Amino acid sequence: MRFRQISLVLITTCLLANAGLAETPDWSKRALQRIANPPLGLPAVLEPKDNPATAEKIALGRKLFFDRRLSSNGTMSCAMCHIPEQGFGNYELATPIGVEGRSLKRNAPTIFNVAYHRTMFHDGRDNALETQIYGPFLATAEMANPSVGWLLQTISGLEDYWGLFEKAFGGPVNAKNLGEAIASYQRTVLSANSPFDKWQYGNQKAALSAVAIKGLKLFKGKAGCARCHIIKKDSAIFTDHKFHNTGIGVKGDIEKPADKSPVVVEISPGITVPLPRSSVDAVGEGHQKDLGRMEVTDRPTDLYRFKTPILRNVALTAPYMHDGSLTTLAQVVAFYNEGPTNALPPLHLNQTEQAALVEFLQSLTGDNIAELVEEARN
Ligand code: HEC
Ligand code: HEC
Repeated sequence: MRFRQISLVLITTCLLANAGLAETPDWSKRALQRIANPPLGLPAVLEPKDNPATAEKIALGRKLFFDRRLSSNGTMSCAMCHIPEQGFGNYELATPIGVEGRSLKRNAPTIFNVAYHRTMFHDGRDNALETQIYGPFLATAEMANPSVGWLLQTISGLEDYWGLFEKAFGGPVNAKNLGEAIASYQRTVLSANSPFDKWQYGNQKAALSAVAIKGLKLFKGKAGCARCHIIKKDSAIFTDHKFHNTGIGVKGDIEKPADKSPVVVEISPGITVPLPRSSVDAVGEGHQKDLGRMEVTDRPTDLYRFKTPILRNVALTAPYMHDGSLTTLAQVVAFYNEGPTNALPPLHLNQTEQAALVEFLQSLTGDNIAELVEEARN
């Protein structure tokens, strides 16, 4: 009798647990809503016709994004360089560190509003979130999977994924649906309705301080920022989708960082060792030259050109520029003020004007950051 009672309890608990697993979590439904109806100030999200997001794809994509088992030695996930609490980027490191401490030559860009980028990476070498994943999954300095097949086999072997691809895509994991799931999650990380948006698009005249309004005027006028970081009538994503030489590339190739401190490396889950920076640099991309867009097109005119970043939430995504060489927004503004290239002549902004530009940039932080972090981690 007693035994029967216990087994009944066990059976019901198991059934309930299974029902919990089978049901799509509420957060993923809310995230799906966000794609359909983006926060104030953002334009409509254009999804590829063959990959409209669903709550199932989003939930699966998030699981994959946070899964350290999808790297060669089980230590790296996407989220370890695109850290939710660090503006979905990495503000501790100018250039992040991948598997076995291999350092990268570029700064990890934020995932916030990545749905709007028409090209991926600082040099725009890929053109879709669906295919972009194979960059980090396969790069020896990032997640170091030896091949696509190996990665797919790893995922098929993980019990907690059994049934999930079938449910989201109607079939087992493959090279295409893996990218589609992660892309669907990344498209939900939308953030706007910032003080700027409330002022500009929501008719809330108290949302921006007088200083920030002055900064906005400079941004669109005398400082010329909006030529590339575009603001439209009904929405703004602060990029022209083009590649420009701002002078950072040349500067970076001349002055190399002289950091000699040891790097703490996780060689397998939970086991870390400090390694001399020289041995880390020897296997990483630390001191490679960065030719920018020219690495993609081979055109000399593209030398040192980098993609115009989306400036939303920029106060949360330091350090700045493709190499993370500028650490504060004040430094970025001072950099432009000096006139870094012939195409970007000196701006002659005084200290008050520079501070106003910084205050404007700080008004671009969306109102749902805590919600997005919580959604990523819950
Ligand atoms: C070791 C750190 C690291 C890991 C792990 C990593 N990334 Fe990145 N990510 C970067 C860096 C650095 C760049 C910029 C590279 C470049 O421009 O060449 C980048 C670029 C991107 C971009 C392009 C954003 C833009 O604005 O163009 C996306 C999207 C992205 N990563 C998503 C992912 C996903 C998904 C994963 C997991 C499959 C992942 N990343 C794993 C460091 C990392
Ligand atoms: C000619 C086009 C152009 C103009 C004009 C321009 N920018 Fe940029 N901006 C860029 C590009 C391209 C980058 C990326 C450079 C890199 O990655 O090395 C960038 C990077 C930035 C960043 C760093 C963002 C990040 O996430 O790393 C900030 C902040 C910024 N610009 C603000 C401004 C401000 C403020 C002005 C006006 C004073 C301005 N920009 C004028 C093209 C431009």
